[in-house]
Amino acid sequence: MPSFVPHKVIFFGEHAVVYGYPSISSTVDLFSKIYLIPNKFHYQQTPFVQGALKFLNKEDVYVKVESNVPSGSGLGTSSMVIIGILLHNPELRGERLAKVAYEIEYSVQGLGSPIDTSTIVAGGFVMTNGNYGIPLWEITKNDKKWKFTNLPGKNLDLIIVYVGNKGSTKEQVEKVRKFMNRGRFAREIMERIGEITREGASAIVRNDLEKIGELMKENHKELKIFGLSTPTMEKVIEIGNSYGYGAKLTGAGGGGSVIILTEERDKIREKLNELNLQFFETSTTSVGAFFK
Ligand code: MEV
Repeated sequence: MPSFVPHKVIFFGEHAVVYGYPSISSTVDLFSKIYLIPNKFHYQQTPFVQGALKFLNKEDVYVKVESNVPSGSGLGTSSMVIIGILLHNPELRGERLAKVAYEIEYSVQGLGSPIDTSTIVAGGFVMTNGNYGIPLWEITKNDKKWKFTNLPGKNLDLIIVYVGNKGSTKEQVEKVRKFMNRGRFAREIMERIGEITREGASAIVRNDLEKIGELMKENHKELKIFGLSTPTMEKVIEIGNSYGYGAKLTGAGGGGSVIILTEERDKIREKLNELNLQFFETSTTSVGAFFK
């Protein structure tokens, strides 16, 4: 039997969350199935897969991932695979699952926040380091602490556009770190992203689509200053801003995916087809990863 694991998008606050600022992410209705198939040949793929299997003490299995979403899409594929494997142990659920998954991801990547892993486990709109919503759990690493809550909010219609393989998350996070080490300017951008995220939380709770879109546009502009956008992303952003409520890059950037909060769906579809890009018409979901 497989586990069912959703992908995630970040609406507000990627990168800033690494420095303790708030973020808002959500699972989306794009689920992958993850099977563990007995196999005595050890040809396991990525270090994330190896880490998760090692934790389960299961090395004689082949991990089969059935997914329509390309890896490198910025939609949380590495977290998704780790969680999909760990779910095969019935003792790993909720907070414990989120914590173990983050430890495995961190041990491979050596940096980053637990937002992808916690979002995929919890499902729904997940706010990190905010004062809104239903408390979930807290995760600490070195001198950093992240507090997670579930935000109430109506599901949002999205078009997620894959613009090509992103650079590694590690590379993008390190790029931002260099800016942060250089001075006050980068901190000010992070402060502004923090404000956008707090305003975004209240807009999501009110289901104020115009406001959510406007804040997405602003958040994207701030991320662009760090050099996280690409020319193709900018073309998609233009379409999203013209025919949707708003658009922004989601996740680490440097490629990967753009999210468009959908308004004129047909027009957006037509324009994206002209660019010959892969995209997913989907919505947020309140469902997190599960095994049945
Ligand atoms: C990646 O999905 C989100 C980043 O903020 C990195 C992280 O939080 O680990 C870019």
